[in-house]
Amino acid sequence: MDIYGPSMGALSSGRLPEPLPESPLPILRTWFDEARDAKDQPNPNAMTLATIDPDGRPSARIVLCKHLHDHLGCAVFFTNLDSRKGRAVEANPRVSLVLHWDHTDRQVRLEGPTSPSPDAESDAYFASRRWESRVGAWASDQSRPIGSRQELLGKLNAVVDRFGVDVEAASRGEPVEIPRPPRWGGTRVWFDRVELWCGSASRVHDRAEWTRELTPSEIEGAPGYAGSAWASTRVQP
Ligand SMILES: Cc1cc2nc3c(=O)[nH]c(=O)nc-3n(C[C@H](O)[C@H](O)[C@H](O)COP(=O)(O)O)c2cc1C
Repeated sequence: MDIYGPSMGALSSGRLPEPLPESPLPILRTWFDEARDAKDQPNPNAMTLATIDPDGRPSARIVLCKHLHDHLGCAVFFTNLDSRKGRAVEANPRVSLVLHWDHTDRQVRLEGPTSPSPDAESDAYFASRRWESRVGAWASDQSRPIGSRQELLGKLNAVVDRFGVDVEAASRGEPVEIPRPPRWGGTRVWFDRVELWCGSASRVHDRAEWTRELTPSEIEGAPGYAGSAWASTRVQP
C-alpha cells in the first residue's frame, strides 16, 4: 500500500515548488516577510552567525538581519568591527547564517563571503537607532573584558558627557546628535549557497539548495560581489 503519495500534501505544513524556481531569493523574501508579519516572535529577523576565528575555531552568536537585499543577494547585520565576530570576519570573510521560524517550521541556511557595508548604509542605520543604543555603541568595546558592571556604566556616562547629550530632552524624543563610531558598521553577507527547508507533518520534510559563483565587483560604489545564475538541487531531508 502506498502510504506516501501526492495526497500527503494535505498533511504538509509547507512545500517547496516543483520544479524548483531558478532563484531562491523570491521564496526567501516571502518567508522573511511572513515571519515579520506574523508578529508572533519578538525578533523574527534573528539569525545565527557562524564565523571562524583567526586560530581556526568556529564561533556562533545571534545577530539581527537589518536588511535583506534580495536584488543583490545579500543580508546585512550591524556590529562592532573590533568584536570577536568582527575580527573573525576580517581574518576569514566566509560566514554562515541560519534563520529558524518555529511557527511555520522553516529553516534557511545562507553561506558566503562578506564585505563591509557602504558608509551610507551604516550611517543611515546608525542614525535610525535609539540614542541609548548609539551611546552604547561608543561605550562598549564589544567582546573585550571589563572589571565590573559599574565600570561599564561609567563608560556610558562618559559618552553622554562627551557628546553633551541632554538626557531629559532625549527622553522626550528630541533629536540627539551622536556620530557613528569609526569601527561600528554593517557587514554584508553575499550568498553563494542558500538552503531552504520546510517541515512537513508527515516528517517527509522538503529541502533544496541553490548555489552560484560570486565574482568580486564594485556594487553601489563599494566592494561587493556579482553573482552568476543559480544552480538548484533538491536534497534528501
Ligand atoms: C536577539 C539578539 C539579537 C542580537 N543582535 C545583535 C546584533 O545585531 N549585532 C551584534 O553585534 N550583536 C547582537 N547580539 C549580541 C550577540 O549575540 C553577541 O553577544 C555580541 O555581538 C558579541 O559577539 P562576539 O563576541 O562573538 O562578537 C544579539 C543578541 C541577541 C540575543
